[in-house]
Amino acid sequence: MKVIRVENYEQVSENAAELVLREWQANRKIVLGLATGATPVGFYRQLIERHREEQLDFSQITTFNLDEYYPIARNHQQSFYMFMQEHFFRHVTIDPARIHILSGEAADVEAECSSFEHRIAATGGIDVQILGIGQNGHIGFNEPGTPFRSITHKVILTDNTIQANAHFFAEAAEVPRHALTMGIETIMRSKKIVLLASGKAKAKAVQQALHGSVTEEVPASVLQNHPDVTFILDREAAAIIGGESPYAPTGDSCWIEDNRR
Ligand code: GLP
Repeated sequence: MKVIRVENYEQVSENAAELVLREWQANRKIVLGLATGATPVGFYRQLIERHREEQLDFSQITTFNLDEYYPIARNHQQSFYMFMQEHFFRHVTIDPARIHILSGEAADVEAECSSFEHRIAATGGIDVQILGIGQNGHIGFNEPGTPFRSITHKVILTDNTIQANAHFFAEAAEVPRHALTMGIETIMRSKKIVLLASGKAKAKAVQQALHGSVTEEVPASVLQNHPDVTFILDREAAAIIGGESPYAPTGDSCWIEDNRR
């Protein structure tokens, strides 16, 4: 696994955008796996800025979002559909027909999940998957204990995750109790994975994901089994991973550490 250590959140966002834009420059039809949550907001902001400054045209990219609350109306202020519109899609040239977000309104959940898997496969698979990480090590909405063999499925959210996401809602009681999410195997099929983490609340999960045992109790630890994973961490998120590595200067995407065993 590759680790890019930077000073702060802004630099996490800049490095992530730089990495994705480099991949996009090599392949304008790139298939991106996208994430929600507070962490990737700065990354989207960077992409929007670069899009404006350099007139970048993203109309050929295809996107698949990791997850969506269930049930939730598409136009609910806190749906991940609305999040993506607000933080990214409505600011850039992107083809709505190439945007794929699991539906929190689906009556037939199984059909929705299996159609999502088929749509990913039909594009040839996700080229670059962006991930955040939950404080308990979850990726997407795959909570501890989720089988590594899981594909897109419906989950029950843990209290920890409900509390962590409650600040987006008026109160914790409003957070939906379920979600639809890409499974661990769906994520692992991506050709390249980029995990972003910022702040001390993520330090323990990051340490376990990078250096802990590979266990379903820490979903992100599965990434140790993937051939192309990059963690982009700020100083606080990287606080307990050890190592003497210097910090990457802003915009510098050189690989600082390689912990592949
Ligand atoms: C949610 C999302 C995850 C995200 C996590 C961390 O549970 N489903 O994909 O990684 O929160 O969110 P944040 O970036 O807000 O800390």
